[in-house]
Amino acid sequence: MGSVPASDLRGDYKGAAPDFSVEQNWHNYTAEEHALYRRLFERQSKLVPRYACAEWIDAIGALDAAHEIPRFDAISRKLKSKTGWEIVAVPGLIPDDAFFSHLANRRFPITVWLRKPEEFDYIVEPDVFHDFFGHVPLLSDPTYADHLYEYGKGGLKAMRLDAITMLARLYWYTIEFGLMQTEAGTRAYGAGLLSSGGELAYCVDDPKPRRLPFDLERVMRTEYRIDRYQDTYFVIDSFEHLMRETAPDFTPIYARIRSLPTFAADAA
Ligand code: PHE
Ligand code: CO
Repeated sequence: MGSVPASDLRGDYKGAAPDFSVEQNWHNYTAEEHALYRRLFERQSKLVPRYACAEWIDAIGALDAAHEIPRFDAISRKLKSKTGWEIVAVPGLIPDDAFFSHLANRRFPITVWLRKPEEFDYIVEPDVFHDFFGHVPLLSDPTYADHLYEYGKGGLKAMRLDAITMLARLYWYTIEFGLMQTEAGTRAYGAGLLSSGGELAYCVDDPKPRRLPFDLERVMRTEYRIDRYQDTYFVIDSFEHLMRETAPDFTPIYARIRSLPTFAADAA
């Protein structure tokens, strides 16, 4: 989500197009960067069989992205034939309107740059590893892919309705930090979990955080913290369930809940 002022961001926004896209310039990545990406990929690969949802696990292999920072055009060709999605390179976080417009056209913006070695365990802004490993595999899943497209259109609508704060909480607690109840147990599908060395096990195994059944209005009223592991997760049954719960027109929902009190991230 792009509500951070560009001056605080570390990407290079000068050469970006009006839609904030840039060339990936894949040949400019160094051997050290490819190696760092590979180490990140290897660490997460040890965790995902136990903690990721089956849809993510089913999708990652076909992307053939374990050895080096992927070429976005090759990935887009694969996604396009499956769900109509493509990925576009961006300098980093982008403004809400540009972000929603990309999603509403089945384009997922991916940060071009990779974190530094000293950020192996934790990074504040999304980088290419988070964006790719966390977000891209699920774009091969037809239901997830359709849901994210609907979310993009819903974002443009929420801007007109001055409801971005409520819709951003939905994104946070689903696309970034969502859990799914499966036959194998609780599993992660949120990108911020899938790409995290520490939170991926924490979100499933640790007794501390609350894991609430998905409740649209509760989600839209729940604040979140961006600087530590989540206190609260919301659990869906399936992507069909998420699709169904988010299908209603949000206009009357926004109107009804915008003046209700919010829940703190760690509210009991
Ligand atoms: N149903 C939402 C609306 O009317 C749009 C939306 C769909 C938002 C899916 C999020 C996810 O605004
Ligand atoms: Co993300």
